[in-house]
Amino acid sequence: MIGPRNNMSVIRIEDLWSSYGREPVLQGLSIDLKEGQSLGIAGPNGAGKTTLFKVILGLVKPQRGRVIVLECELKNEKDRSWVRRQLAYVPQQSVRGKLPVSVWDAVLMGRWGKTFGFLKMPQNSDKAAVHQALEEVGLLHKLKADCRALSGGELQKVALARALIRGASIMLLDEPTTYLDHRSKEDLVELLTRIREERKLSLITISHDPSHLEQITDEVLQMENGRLREKI
Ligand SMILES: Nc1ncnc2c1ncn2[C@@H]1O[C@H](COP(=O)(O)OP(=O)(O)OP(=O)(O)O)[C@@H](O)[C@H]1O
Ligand SMILES: [Mg+2]
Repeated sequence: MIGPRNNMSVIRIEDLWSSYGREPVLQGLSIDLKEGQSLGIAGPNGAGKTTLFKVILGLVKPQRGRVIVLECELKNEKDRSWVRRQLAYVPQQSVRGKLPVSVWDAVLMGRWGKTFGFLKMPQNSDKAAVHQALEEVGLLHKLKADCRALSGGELQKVALARALIRGASIMLLDEPTTYLDHRSKEDLVELLTRIREERKLSLITISHDPSHLEQITDEVLQMENGRLREKI
């Protein structure tokens, strides 16, 4: 266990309420993620775990409550887009990749809007970062492969490499062990433990896999009906 570095909050959520329609999904939820801390969130399907990430990413607006990321409170679109650039997000994989792009390009896209974009080509430093991230996740040998030809576990590694090259200090992982076999899960635990220390990351990981969640987190919270409590 590495544990929080100091007492600075990197994500602070206070009394958050959110819904897609009439039914509330998140109901008065609070979180305080400290710098360097790794928090796990468990809970049944439909509890609101992914919705919580969408609110942190500014993709779903809260109805009530405060969301503060790196001391910036999400109030308007400008704040939300700034916050999105500070976060690395590995989304829940519900379908196998259908993207007709190479592994290299898929990872490079992690820097889109950050160091290059419509009017600026990727720089050598971006290419070096892709190389390093692929090496870190153990996928360098597949850099030219088409994403459609990858296994679920390999796709998960692409998503992780893409999150890594954003150079963000906060990482949100939604079910990162989906599609991974036992060996790959062990590799992921090892990888996350290593990069967490090397890159001084603060992490929130959603997972149904309690044993792996405990290995990569300092604390696990249980989500039930849009509320969080400490896991007993
Ligand atoms: N885009 C959406 N529009 C309307 N309702 C939604 C939408 N996304 C999620 N919901 C609903 O919000 C609730 C919480 O969904 P959410 O995806 O946050 O759950 P989860 O805890 O991540 O579940 P899982 O473990 O299955 O991934 C569910 O009842 C779901 O049906
Ligand atoms: Mg989910």
